[in-house]
Amino acid sequence: MDSHRHTGKVAIVTGAASGIGRATALRIAQEGARVVGCDVNASALEDVRAQFADLGVHATMVIADITRQDEVERLVHAAGPHIDILANVAGIMDHFLPLAELDDATWARVIDVNLTGVMRLSRAVLPGMEAAGGGAIVTVASEASLGAGCAGASYTSSKHAVIGLVKHIAYFYGPKHVRSNAVLPGAVNTGIGATADPRSRWAMERAMLAMATMPDAAEPDQIATVISWLASDEASNVNGACVTADGGWAAA
Ligand SMILES: NC(=O)c1ccc[n+]([C@@H]2O[C@H](COP(=O)([O-])OP(=O)(O)OC[C@H]3O[C@@H](n4cnc5c(N)ncnc54)[C@H](O)[C@@H]3O)[C@@H](O)[C@H]2O)c1
Repeated sequence: MDSHRHTGKVAIVTGAASGIGRATALRIAQEGARVVGCDVNASALEDVRAQFADLGVHATMVIADITRQDEVERLVHAAGPHIDILANVAGIMDHFLPLAELDDATWARVIDVNLTGVMRLSRAVLPGMEAAGGGAIVTVASEASLGAGCAGASYTSSKHAVIGLVKHIAYFYGPKHVRSNAVLPGAVNTGIGATADPRSRWAMERAMLAMATMPDAAEPDQIATVISWLASDEASNVNGACVTADGGWAAA
């Protein structure tokens, strides 16, 4: 691995206060990029900034909600006119709510964060990437992009839909040298459990069947390595791909 593969690049990483986003921000910064991390959780983001500083890693941290256009614009402005890498990592679960038990607020928030937020931020960075001659967008999707057994209706829908957006960007902006790829993790040890606690007994019964073949949970850096590679020039011919990083769960 080239440990300096992102030297001279500027990278935005969302969800940087926890889990996969934190690991991605740390890895990409250690590999040379100037990282601008963002998260809606201000106190956790400040903790991460301090942890990075203790490790000798500098990253700019911006408190921002990716579902809000004004906050997305503020984030992109903080990163500057030339952004090479966007890692769309922030996301939330849906309490495993199946359709008949689903409330409108859960649906709206999950779609807002997992799909509309990715759209807003990707849309915001595209003109700069095009003007600079290219860039790389990596979006964290999920095993729930492939099937219905590991989440509720909102999360599964959002993670299927975001693959369409990833491929749209790949096809329409590939000729302008902007690459767009998705990483599909299986279970990962992160903080997402707060929105993953099941609120439906029926849904959990169904989900347990799908989870019977689930490998052990991964650590966040095992996903960050894949994100970093897809964002790097080493993956220069990879565009529109959905890369599973699930220990083989999808192969079951
Ligand atoms: N943990 C898993 O098992 C797993 C599996 C598959 C996919 N994923 C996906 O990985 C991604 C990262 O999740 P994680 O597991 O690291 O979870 P996490 O909860 O540890 O981290 C997600 C971060 O996103 C932030 N966030 C949420 N809404 C936001 C918003 N509107 N604006 C800005 N930041 C926001 C949260 O505050 C949190 O810090 C998500 O897209 C998730 O769907 C996770």
